[in-house]
Amino acid sequence: MSEQPQFKVTIDNITIDVPAGTTILNAARMIGGDVTPPAMCYYSKLKDSGGKCRTCLVEVSKGSEKDPRPMPKLVASCRTTVMDGMEVKNITSEKVLDARKGVVEFLLLNHPLDCPVCDQAGECDLQNLSYEHGSEVTRYEFKRRTFEKEDIGPFISLHMTRCIMCFRCVYTAEQLTERREHGILERGDHAQISTLLGKSLDNDFIGNVIDVCPVGALTDKTFRFKNRVWFTKPVDAHRDCNHEKCNGKVRLWMRGEEVFRVTARKDQWGEVEEFICNECRFHKKEAKDWVIEGPSVIKRSSVIAQGHYVGTMKPPVLIDKVIGKQPKFLMEIHNVSDVNKPEIELSKIDGPAHSDDFVQGSKK
Ligand code: SF4
Ligand code: FES
Repeated sequence: MSEQPQFKVTIDNITIDVPAGTTILNAARMIGGDVTPPAMCYYSKLKDSGGKCRTCLVEVSKGSEKDPRPMPKLVASCRTTVMDGMEVKNITSEKVLDARKGVVEFLLLNHPLDCPVCDQAGECDLQNLSYEHGSEVTRYEFKRRTFEKEDIGPFISLHMTRCIMCFRCVYTAEQLTERREHGILERGDHAQISTLLGKSLDNDFIGNVIDVCPVGALTDKTFRFKNRVWFTKPVDAHRDCNHEKCNGKVRLWMRGEEVFRVTARKDQWGEVEEFICNECRFHKKEAKDWVIEGPSVIKRSSVIAQGHYVGTMKPPVLIDKVIGKQPKFLMEIHNVSDVNKPEIELSKIDGPAHSDDFVQGSKK
């Protein structure tokens, strides 16, 4: 069998040899770091993904050794394969940075910007993308698009206003599960993710659409409003799962001994390492269900990494020295609120936590 030819490609002045057929995005991922363009729709584990969001645009300043002409337009790096001798500019191109800013502005046109109440906040690709590449203002003056609320089942919550039409969830349902039950209805501005005739999504691998969704359009109902993701501690864990396609390797999001959420483990590109079944995700919410391996590796730049430092020292409290006496609190929150009562397990409350759940002597 003949060996696969290697092509030399230079991205932002860094040269690397990659097998022929590699996309520019994957070549950049092999280099790593800032050279890698962001990707909101491409997902290496899903066939045919990519080419929808345009966040991965790059400039090809030299087509190849044989034909060194630059490509006339910016190209989607997730869909363009490298040629031998190709030269690509990502962060070294003004044009790319400007175009990416425009793409972020478009993605945010109809986005509700409800991060303060969105469960995805803190781990949202769109939030990160806007911080890194967006502008602080919008020029959009019209009413944002809205949709009829749709119930797609007991485990997954759909917020269509947050969707960026990346198609990842559709490919996930199509490629991982036995039945495809949802898809994109209508076209253009009216396009929306929906189930056929309002059916619910309930097959045994469908929970993975939550993990692949880059925004808060598909979230876990069993975790909804229970906790902020940066207050929970991610740990890697596994169990013997009976499902033939699930290896039971997951990430638990814990607070103390409570398991608030179970997700698949994600790699450095924010992609699921291996898909998990619904049983592991939605029905194994006790620490005793799992063999805990240890803390998950989280990027230092992520808000989730807050509170994960080991060996840190608590700074001394100096306020009484500064003001010369003990400060007087108007109200001691821990005395008037039941929120911190250890006997209330927030992860076990059905639905979003409500003030009724914390009234002394109430049902919980
Ligand atoms: S619901 Fe999420 S995964 Fe599905 S198309 Fe919209 S943004 Fe993409
Ligand atoms: S990641 Fe390339 S177009 Fe979306």
